[in-house]
Amino acid sequence: MNIMNVDYSTRIPNNVNLTGDRQVLKALEGWHPGYMDWWSDMGPEGFQQSLVYLRTAYSVDPRGWAKFDYVKMPDYRWGILLAPQEENRVIPFGERYGEPAWQEVPGEHRAMLRRLIVIQGDTEPASVEQQRHLGKTAPSLYDLRNLFQVNVEEGRHLWAMVYLLQKYFGRDGREEADQLLRRRSGSTEAPRMLGAFNEATPDWLSFFMFTFFTDRDGKMQLESLAQSGFDPLSRTCRFMLTEEAHHMFVGETGVGRTIQRTCEAMKAAGIEDPNEIARVRALGVVDLPTIQKKLNLHYTLSLDLFGSEVSTNAANAFNAGIKGRFGETKIADDHLLTSATYPVLKMVDGIIRRVDEPALTALNMRLRDDYTTDCAKGVERWNKVIEKTGVAFKLALPHVAFHRQIGEFKYIKATPDGDLIDDATWARRRDEWLPSKADGDFIAALMQPVSEPGQFAGWIAAPKVGIDNKPGDFEYVRIAA
Ligand SMILES: [Fe+2]
Ligand SMILES: [Fe+2]
Repeated sequence: MNIMNVDYSTRIPNNVNLTGDRQVLKALEGWHPGYMDWWSDMGPEGFQQSLVYLRTAYSVDPRGWAKFDYVKMPDYRWGILLAPQEENRVIPFGERYGEPAWQEVPGEHRAMLRRLIVIQGDTEPASVEQQRHLGKTAPSLYDLRNLFQVNVEEGRHLWAMVYLLQKYFGRDGREEADQLLRRRSGSTEAPRMLGAFNEATPDWLSFFMFTFFTDRDGKMQLESLAQSGFDPLSRTCRFMLTEEAHHMFVGETGVGRTIQRTCEAMKAAGIEDPNEIARVRALGVVDLPTIQKKLNLHYTLSLDLFGSEVSTNAANAFNAGIKGRFGETKIADDHLLTSATYPVLKMVDGIIRRVDEPALTALNMRLRDDYTTDCAKGVERWNKVIEKTGVAFKLALPHVAFHRQIGEFKYIKATPDGDLIDDATWARRRDEWLPSKADGDFIAALMQPVSEPGQFAGWIAAPKVGIDNKPGDFEYVRIAA
């Protein structure tokens, strides 16, 4: 079998020769019913019998890897797909720099590797759980289809991590795979492992912000794991990144279309001042200051996912050759970082200061900076959308000290500009910077479902092009009665 093509003859489609790997195939088939139970309990609410125009991977060739067709979500072929093995790949960083990449788990780093795979794996079903209620308020069939595409692919990403656990970690890997189906987003007894994945996704604007900001954290994590010296992890993450790009597209264009509709409605009504919130809302669109608040929330929740700015865990994972930097192989340095430093924002004597830290312990900060750069580019593209309509307003990323629960700034309060404030000021002004209950209620009231092909809710513009180049009135979801 060509590694590029996927074997669909087994229950679990794959390009890892599962038919020749009976033990792992058996373990995965044993896990499959529990996954299907999880999907029916915690996957998208309703629509399970509807036909959804989904893409399914049939190859891992980046030039043409997916095909589109109508599928009922429970019939989606969740498969195990690894990017092709690079010949003579070496460990691209850390103490084993330049040695051949591992095809088996290096014994001394087993626990660390398992932990990283479990943490990554835990985020995948979590986001499906967070988004499960959104189907009933979808602004169009196009958006409904995109939501479900993201959901089935997050399901596949769970499979990807479970494959690694079951193939390479024996009994405790199988136990971890079972636990991944037991934890629940937002649960008090068995929550998901990371904070942002226990937050609610109450409305579609949150969903778009989540796929822009939080899926982008996912991208950064996958990029650094794609550098891993443990080759199966690297190959798995490389293919996941192909799918991940669509999730961020959904987020970026979703927010962009929301912004566009707001600006167009303002212009048509002759409203020049974006801060005339009541007048803008009366048009049935989301005012720009509220969009900024949503941005503030989702960006800061996602910043927390990078962990503490200074971290020995991150240093250990790098030294071990397990988790690299964003674009590791393209960075021109020694890939060892034994004497390098990196500037870290810290609280020093009550002031936010830039302090040089050993680059090894500052790896989380570095990845977070790379993430911020990536986010800022997207925000600039949103600002172009606003600019084109002639409305005078700019969205901006808040300061990294604003609204943090992890790291250097968790004990302080700061404004979105990074000015330190006391608790009383924070309590008084919080609702200027983060979505308030009233903002949430207003957005919730806008979330009326639209299910006529080619029609869109009044708060969001139509996309410029269809999925798979389909025309504007294409029926992306055939909703079962
Ligand atoms: Fe994912
Ligand atoms: Fe994703």
